[in-house]
Amino acid sequence: MRAAPAPAATPTIFLRGIGVRFGQNVALDDVDLDLAPGARHAVVGENGAGKSTLMKVLFGLLRPDRGEILVDGRPRRFGSPKDAIALGIGMVHQHFELIEPFTVAENVVLGAEPATRGLFQSKQARARVAELSEASGLPIDPDARVEQLSVASRQRVEILKALYRRAHVLVLDEPTAVLAPAEARDLWAATLRLSQAGTTIVFITHKLDEVMAHADAVTVLRRGKRVLHAPVRETNAERLAAAMVGEAALTPVPSPLLPAFAGGRGVPEASSTSAARGADAPGVPSREAAVDGVAGTPLPPAKAGSRGEGKGVRAVRRFATASRRRRCAGG
Ligand SMILES: Nc1ncnc2c1ncn2[C@@H]1O[C@H](COP(=O)(O)OP(=O)(O)O)[C@@H](O)[C@H]1O
Ligand SMILES: [Mg+2]
Repeated sequence: MRAAPAPAATPTIFLRGIGVRFGQNVALDDVDLDLAPGARHAVVGENGAGKSTLMKVLFGLLRPDRGEILVDGRPRRFGSPKDAIALGIGMVHQHFELIEPFTVAENVVLGAEPATRGLFQSKQARARVAELSEASGLPIDPDARVEQLSVASRQRVEILKALYRRAHVLVLDEPTAVLAPAEARDLWAATLRLSQAGTTIVFITHKLDEVMAHADAVTVLRRGKRVLHAPVRETNAERLAAAMVGEAALTPVPSPLLPAFAGGRGVPEASSTSAARGADAPGVPSREAAVDGVAGTPLPPAKAGSRGEGKGVRAVRRFATASRRRRCAGG
């Protein structure tokens, strides 16, 4: 079951009109991002849509050419991640940045250690890690060496590291890409718990089912522009998929091979024409297939010159296939 959205409604962080160029390439064009306290905010989009760039701006890794960042209503300049961390923003990158031979507790406090070294301080660090681990529902042995840990545990260490630095906004770049399903479930449970305690969670994903199940709000980027933002309860996976790849790209071409609809409905709606061409579609599409604008719709070919289709398109394809199966099964 979905949890109720976090009680607070006032956004604490606004990214306004963010523009980032890399030479001629416009990575972000006039992008807004509103992060409400305690909300779980998904950022989705195709490969190259600008998701990581936007998160880098939020974390102070990249200075935007245009736009501003407002934290609690005040414009802030993020010169480096230090500034972001000082304002309570933490980020877990896709590739972890841990010191393998160090223990969990050492990694968590690294760079923010208690002022003096010694037994007491190390005890204090371990106690704090244990406390954070308990509170967030991210179980970990503070004394374990990182080199002995699974990827899921390493990710927990990264999250604890951010929480130790008092992050109240936690940015996760494709957090489930490296996780097994059971591990992903544990991570989502932890993010829910954190959000209920007031931590804002921002996560990048390509998986629309994750957005629908684990986000309160969603921002869709396409080619550097924000093309959709909405509370998750006011959207659905079909609309997100369409926004990700572009409505135009999803408008199917009428097929001359399409058999006429049974029941005298004549020429099928545009969205249904391609359903009949789906690999596992029956000769005559069902009424459900006819209204299923995405599930039965062919996806655009990979961009010329790109290395095959992006993860986003593959995710949409997966979604479309699953959706088709559900409908075929009468679900
Ligand atoms: N450091 C960089 N130098 C040049 N171009 C970049 C750099 N980082 C990202 N880009 C370009 O900016 C666009 C957005 O990239 P990115 O934010 O990484 O997309 P996403 O995370 O959504 O896949 C892409 O066209 C990418 O090639
Ligand atoms: Mg990226």
